[in-house]
Amino acid sequence: MARKVILDVDPGVDDALAICMALFDPRLEVVAVTATAGNVSAEQATRNVQGIIEQLDPPRLPRIGAAKEPDFGREGDNRHLYGADGLGNAHFPVAELHHVHPAEKVICDEVRAAPDAITIVALGPLTNIARALARDSELASLIGRIHIMGGSMRAGGNVTPAAEFNIHCDPAAARTVFRSATTKTLVPLDVTNQVMMTYAQFDELPPESTKAGSFLRRILPHCFRTHRAELGLEGMWIHDAVAMAALLHPELFHAEALTGDVETRGELTTGATVFDRRSGRKAHANMEVLTEVDVAAVMDCILRGLHAAAKR
Ligand code: RIB
Ligand code: CA
Repeated sequence: MARKVILDVDPGVDDALAICMALFDPRLEVVAVTATAGNVSAEQATRNVQGIIEQLDPPRLPRIGAAKEPDFGREGDNRHLYGADGLGNAHFPVAELHHVHPAEKVICDEVRAAPDAITIVALGPLTNIARALARDSELASLIGRIHIMGGSMRAGGNVTPAAEFNIHCDPAAARTVFRSATTKTLVPLDVTNQVMMTYAQFDELPPESTKAGSFLRRILPHCFRTHRAELGLEGMWIHDAVAMAALLHPELFHAEALTGDVETRGELTTGATVFDRRSGRKAHANMEVLTEVDVAAVMDCILRGLHAAAKR
């Protein structure tokens, strides 16, 4: 029986890789893809979700949920890395969307339709999930698991010295989700920063003649250029694809049961994730945090997932 998932994303090129892996993996049933503001605006994220699905044309079409900006505003975005449209300046055409429901409504509907069976894969700011928890007071008890790309344990921040981007965009929402009575897995920068796609691996992607190959070859080149120009990297980080690999192959990672929380008011530390590692605190853990990764095996899993997308 395929695992039911909702992908909550702020595409974003690395979100697009994760979506591509999930839509064609027989182990997953993607019941919905909900957009959240983060890498790009709410409107652009919603547009990108539709554009990615139209370009990849998966065997089953998921529901789409529309993003709305965080209640307390959002500082910054990642267009400097992912391009003006968030997808490497591919500027995919998108058919007009009709009656797209708000993301938090789609999440509530789909969780209610399959109690305890849904894994929410959160690859952007946690705005939608916090709103869904507020919309339906029983939702926390009905969600199977929340699998989150975000935060940092010992790896420092990537958007400020202390904070990882997804958490920093909406710290209040992240604190709500961290403190909710849900089963959570966190995939922090400590593991995602260890996995980079190289130029050689780009050349190994599916051929241009396939929908997936054409899509990947349109969104990735700009990202390689910005990672080199801005970050001095000979390759690109693919945080969300690593998080998707962790969902599909947890055996390639080491996890620790910890209590995690989010700083929401620090002048220098807003958006930082804080973990209680004092002895004797395991019993109070509110999540499992991935701390180690088999880098080569995870990269192989990601490349195999992208190739599988080209075969359908
Ligand atoms: O910090 C990395 C995360 O921020 C990734 O999910 C990336 O897509 C951005 O959302
Ligand atoms: Ca993302």
